[in-house]
Amino acid sequence: MTIAIEQPQHIGIEVDDKSKVSGDTNELVLDGGFLMPETNSFGQTFRDYDAESERKKSVEEFYRMNHINQSYDFVKTMREKYGKLNRVEMSIWECCELLNEFVDESDPDLDEPQIEHLLQTAEAIRRDYPDQDWLHLTGLIHDLGKVLLHEKFGGLPQWAVVGDTFPVGCAYDESNVHFKYFKENPDYNNPNYNTKNGIYPEGCGLNNVMMSWGHDDYMYLVAKENKSTLPSAALFIIRYHSFYPLHKCGAYTHLMNDEDKENLKWLHVFNKYDLYSKSKVRIDVEKVKPYYLSLIEKVKIIIAHLGFFHIN
Ligand SMILES: [Fe+2]
Ligand SMILES: [Fe+2]
Repeated sequence: MTIAIEQPQHIGIEVDDKSKVSGDTNELVLDGGFLMPETNSFGQTFRDYDAESERKKSVEEFYRMNHINQSYDFVKTMREKYGKLNRVEMSIWECCELLNEFVDESDPDLDEPQIEHLLQTAEAIRRDYPDQDWLHLTGLIHDLGKVLLHEKFGGLPQWAVVGDTFPVGCAYDESNVHFKYFKENPDYNNPNYNTKNGIYPEGCGLNNVMMSWGHDDYMYLVAKENKSTLPSAALFIIRYHSFYPLHKCGAYTHLMNDEDKENLKWLHVFNKYDLYSKSKVRIDVEKVKPYYLSLIEKVKIIIAHLGFFHIN
């Protein structure tokens, strides 16, 4: 079988399962044997922002605050502040357990503790891609940046931690959920920031683009600033997994470079597990914990980098 996409760099974890790659179509096989549930924790279809539910109003209010406040200057300030990574140290597992205290208010599909979501995602990937250890690990850690909600990490409001993400410094695309609230963002009428490319050259690569601030960019900074050797596909998944305008709607592709286009294929694989594992499938944490501890042990060099969260 032909390998149709670049595999991530080997990092001490198996990354070369070729069985999920279709050589004929240059596309990753997306089903991976994963049976997608039809409904979320509330019995509704996934990401239905119009569904009548107790959470509808709070989700909309969440996006109103998010869209008004996530300006270019705000993101720049937060990146400078949190990029110093100089306050807190903890292990990956401790961090997973810390997240148990929080429910993501932006998420219309999920009201389980976060550790359940991390393990649901990682376990679903593990079942379908048993040899892709790097992707299991990515599943386990992708949301750890939500510790920003914790007072130890600054106790940021939900609108500065979770929810869909989008580039700042260029025009907001209309595919963003609750787009109308961007009209109250100071950047909306700023001629430097409200054109299609804004401050960015076409095709500059997403790693040169400032994204709205939240757990995705924070965890990416933690991995990057600690010189993690995670493959670039893993870093891409971590930074853009909430970038639904891109990976669901195909917006903002004019800012991508060739490496982004390759990595986007892995993000599409990952996203299905991130989204559809949010159902009433309960994980026995104590039962699966030894596997993930052994995985962390197996990649102890990487975890030594990743396992320390330093923030200002
Ligand atoms: Fe997330
Ligand atoms: Fe997630």
